[in-house]
Amino acid sequence: MSIFLCIQVSVCENTRGNPSLWSKMKLVALMTLLPILSSASLPPPEGSYKILFLLPFTTRSHKILHIALATNLADRGHKITMLTNQAPSSKHPNIYEFTHGMEETDFDSLNVFKFLIQPGASFVPPAFIFEALGRNLYQLQEVKDIYNKRKEFDVIVIDCYMNDVVYPFVHEMPFIVLCGTGMEQMHSAVMGNVLNPAYTPSMQYMWNHPMSLIQRAVNIFGSIQFGFIYKHWSPVPVVQPEINKHFPDLPPILELEKNVSLSLINSHYSLGMTQPLLPSQIEVGAMHCRPGKPLPRDVAQWIEEAEHDVIYFSLGSVVRSEFMSENFRNIMIEAFTKMKQRVIWKFEKELEGLPDNVIIRKWLPQQDVLAHPKVKVFITHGGRLSSQEAIYHSKPVLAIPVFFDQPKVAAELQKAGFGIALNLKELTVPLVVDSLNEIINNPKYAKAIGKASLLLRDQKETPIDRAVWWTEYVIRHRGAPALRSPGADLSWIEYLCLDVLVVVHVGIFTLFWVSKKLLALACRVNKKKKTE
Ligand SMILES: *[C@@H]1O[C@H](CO)[C@@H](O)[C@H](O)[C@H]1NC(C)=O
Repeated sequence: MSIFLCIQVSVCENTRGNPSLWSKMKLVALMTLLPILSSASLPPPEGSYKILFLLPFTTRSHKILHIALATNLADRGHKITMLTNQAPSSKHPNIYEFTHGMEETDFDSLNVFKFLIQPGASFVPPAFIFEALGRNLYQLQEVKDIYNKRKEFDVIVIDCYMNDVVYPFVHEMPFIVLCGTGMEQMHSAVMGNVLNPAYTPSMQYMWNHPMSLIQRAVNIFGSIQFGFIYKHWSPVPVVQPEINKHFPDLPPILELEKNVSLSLINSHYSLGMTQPLLPSQIEVGAMHCRPGKPLPRDVAQWIEEAEHDVIYFSLGSVVRSEFMSENFRNIMIEAFTKMKQRVIWKFEKELEGLPDNVIIRKWLPQQDVLAHPKVKVFITHGGRLSSQEAIYHSKPVLAIPVFFDQPKVAAELQKAGFGIALNLKELTVPLVVDSLNEIINNPKYAKAIGKASLLLRDQKETPIDRAVWWTEYVIRHRGAPALRSPGADLSWIEYLCLDVLVVVHVGIFTLFWVSKKLLALACRVNKKKKTE
């Protein structure tokens, strides 16, 4: 489209023959086109590819990332097949979604408030879910069909975390992993990049930087413990026997996993920690973020007619508000009655007795709401995607985390000065009201998050273009062996040079022992001579 408009401008220039006016207009036209050009900056693809996405165990929010990538690939003419536990969410003609429908992975009926745990702890789904997945997934006819046709695909994209059940698909195929939880120590190590525990906190900890001696010690064990449990307790040892029954001749999951071509990681140095990365580790943090689009008319009107700006409240897609405790709900409602701002709240059920300044909607286009200039605060559960959207759209946050990595994300948001994090268990009406007023009236929060937003947007190409380009790269080269780190082929003993250390120690000890013996011998000879 942009090319077409450029041509139009130059045609007009020729026919009208007023160069100065027309070149000015051309400049204006180009400037308005620039955003369009930059968001589709990739050269056209070499052909139409077939791409298989496998995410049989994922959350709605992780699926948002897969759909963002799939949609951008589909826009380029590629054909996408997606196997997932989530309901279909794309209407794109080039995307075919298959929902396997196993009830063990139905997060919609899952009440995560039951898993409400202390900040800092991590959430491990029960092992029976993985066992059921391993047992039943390959019995579904459609999954069998996709499996039998898997060699027809040009590349496979899988969800990095807890989707070990799909590894039979990637045998002798080029594949990419998408890490929705961000930089992940365990997976990074598989690729040959062990993140240094001296400054990389393990998923379950929230240490400040720099860590103390004790913290670094605990962090080393925490980092090892997580990978150890994953590989030696659950989910891998639970899934593996089930996979063996269906595919007795395949190499084990942990072997197949090592052949990964590259990983697309939902992180970015502007969003948190800078890490040394391999060329096969591509940071695509906030790739689902995009400029706001017009809102549904009723919502737009409600926001625009607000006399004193707007507060947006959403607990995301996994944490469903209908499972909120009555206490939590009442605190929030009462706090809203004390605010002069209007509140727009994503809540999946009807609610009686709401104050006049509050409306609820079952679903809202979150990014379009956040992009609206009248929205001043985002009350969030501190999910990773939501916090990225808050930064991208430059909206300060009041974070009320519920589970998993949310307490950690919330603490990071507060530490960065992007808002205030509250503990759900200590929530009171005055605390919510004071926090909201502080965030709205003290410009420091908006300023801090505005600065982060600029950093996040200031990239050579958009994260989504980067993700698309690398996906096609893996297709063009049938894998990415050139990017592979030699470190990935070493055992951990070799990687840490423990064998070298043992040899050096034994050498030093031998040298010491031999010299001691020689010295003793010399002394004895000496003494003998003297007594003679
Ligand atoms: C490893 O990946 C390459 C493509 O990236 C593929 O050709 C090869 O067969 C794979 N090996 C295994 C054991 O899957």
